[in-house]
Amino acid sequence: MYLISPNFPEVGEPNIEIKLFPDGDSYCRINDISKCQGEDVSLFHRLYPKQNTAIFNAAQLLHTLKRVGARTSLVAPYMPYARQDKTFLMGESLSAQILCKLFNDFGTVKIVTVDCHFLKKEGESEYAGLKIQNLSANKMLVEHARKKIGLEGLEVISPDQGANYLVSEFGGKSMSKVRGGYEQGEEAYRSVQTVEREFDVAEKNILIMDDMISTGGTMLKAIENVRKGGAKKVFCAATHGFFLNDSLTRLKKSADWVFTTNSIPNDVAEVDIIPLLKSAVGDPPAPQ
Ligand code: R5P
Repeated sequence: MYLISPNFPEVGEPNIEIKLFPDGDSYCRINDISKCQGEDVSLFHRLYPKQNTAIFNAAQLLHTLKRVGARTSLVAPYMPYARQDKTFLMGESLSAQILCKLFNDFGTVKIVTVDCHFLKKEGESEYAGLKIQNLSANKMLVEHARKKIGLEGLEVISPDQGANYLVSEFGGKSMSKVRGGYEQGEEAYRSVQTVEREFDVAEKNILIMDDMISTGGTMLKAIENVRKGGAKKVFCAATHGFFLNDSLTRLKKSADWVFTTNSIPNDVAEVDIIPLLKSAVGDPPAPQ
């Protein structure tokens, strides 16, 4: 089995060339392609940031590997477009399906990813024809929190029902999120109107855990809610941290601690996701 990667310095030197032609088209070359011929290959490829370019580069690499008969597992810790698995208005695209169909068409044996938004459970499944091995960072996040702040009195909750699978094994409960409609303007964004809670948090230390923090809207409302409910200390954790705009500054002001994994590099990425990914595909040597 070979491990190749253009953009995962944590797993080895990049051994794929990605450049742009003068007109902006992408150029990809797998330098060690002869070693991949007929082999099992793990392609570690971050699909964020610049997801549209990264997705097309992944398609180029997968197609090239398919042409030499490689059996490729795509290892991508964050799956972009995973929040577009349902439509809200008529005529909207089901982009999560489109992405999975694309990877399947290019011969991906499976995609290994972490806390894929539309799956809402760990394990193997199939979606739009693509085999997905969905890992969860929940145990690593809770373990990290417990090492730093101790076991006693820490309650792990999620800000919405969709993230309940992250907290249920720690006896955690979930709040409910109410979203508004699309805002006017260029951005496709439905604001978080409120987060509701039907359980007690008074005098407790609370760890709010979600699959991702994007604009921070969900987490900020959740923090406000548990603060009003009399929580002692409030910590926030997520697998994927985008922290768009000034959300990290705002979160740091309202929570006692904010941290994520390094699935998306950011300033509070304290939990290393790489061992989890490697455990899913083995730890092969990179091609020489
Ligand atoms: C959605 O249901 C997800 O689990 C997250 O709660 C959401 O995507 C976070 O986005 P934001 O930070 O923009 O509220």
